[in-house]
Amino acid sequence: MSSFPRPRRLRGTGAIRNLVAETGFSPAQLILPAFVREGITEPVPIKSMPGVSQHTLESLLEEAEGLLRSGVNTILLFGVTDEKDIDGSLACKQGFILQRAITALKRSFGDELTIMSDLCLDEYTTHGHCGVLDNLGRVDNDKTLLRYQKLALSLAEASVDFVAPSGMMDHQVAAIREALDGEGWVDTGILAYSAKYASALYGPFRDAVEVEIAGGGDRKAYQQDYRNRREALREIELDLAEGADMIMVKPASLYLDIIAAASEISDRPVAAYQVSGEYSMIACAAAAGYLDRSAVALESLTAIFRAGADLVLTYFAKEVKGWLE
Ligand code: PBG
Repeated sequence: MSSFPRPRRLRGTGAIRNLVAETGFSPAQLILPAFVREGITEPVPIKSMPGVSQHTLESLLEEAEGLLRSGVNTILLFGVTDEKDIDGSLACKQGFILQRAITALKRSFGDELTIMSDLCLDEYTTHGHCGVLDNLGRVDNDKTLLRYQKLALSLAEASVDFVAPSGMMDHQVAAIREALDGEGWVDTGILAYSAKYASALYGPFRDAVEVEIAGGGDRKAYQQDYRNRREALREIELDLAEGADMIMVKPASLYLDIIAAASEISDRPVAAYQVSGEYSMIACAAAAGYLDRSAVALESLTAIFRAGADLVLTYFAKEVKGWLE
């Protein structure tokens, strides 16, 4: 017999495996991204994301109630509207669906529910870019920052807990922090989409928010090139220096190396976003009977935590409690 140790002893029974498992997570570490749409009276299922719908105000409140019962205390909202304009100005008003949803959720659930809002312009502009355009049709970084400041203030006024700038404009975190502090919103936090890659995995999301980029364009001039890693670390360092309370890597499961590197350098919580395409790959294969939905989703989420994420945004959030039990 060999005198080497027997690693299999630590895998012998489920109880032993649980005893020595290195990675675990709870629903409290998850955030549900949710879509609230203007001008509908019933929730509208999103075809490319089976199991996910655009919400009315009422169905959003029900969703949040179910979420809390599933041990998930955080929601991240996206507004959806037909009423788009060239600079997304309609989204900065208190009467807009996003601000109304935030106020209604806060009124119903108080501090039990942490409310985050995506802060970007693509959902609200006719051209579908994340910023305002200059007269050559390119995204104008610094003019966009002024819009982001306005949007941040209107979300804060609606009583959002965290704004989550996702447009990848340079200095967006500093600009938003300055605007919020300037108006006394010092407790409104910033979850920065810091290392956000130009990814084909956002495909189903664009159905969810009904966004098409004009002229078949893309976001490669402001989102990151997936061939690069160092650039992500630089984006994260800048966002931390500019005052981000949490940073994010997005997408998640194809970017585990970036999550691991982020968790090494960040002194603040690292979030990872399991995006629409990651959800749909699992959900659609499972719906066709080719994959086990809960098993693959749990494996994917666990891998994201194992890589070093402290919290994860996932469309599976509500189901996780049942799977872990
Ligand atoms: C931009 C934004 C996007 C997502 C979140 N915020 C789309 C994009 O950058 O094109 C994608 C989320 C997902 O795919 O689930 N407002």
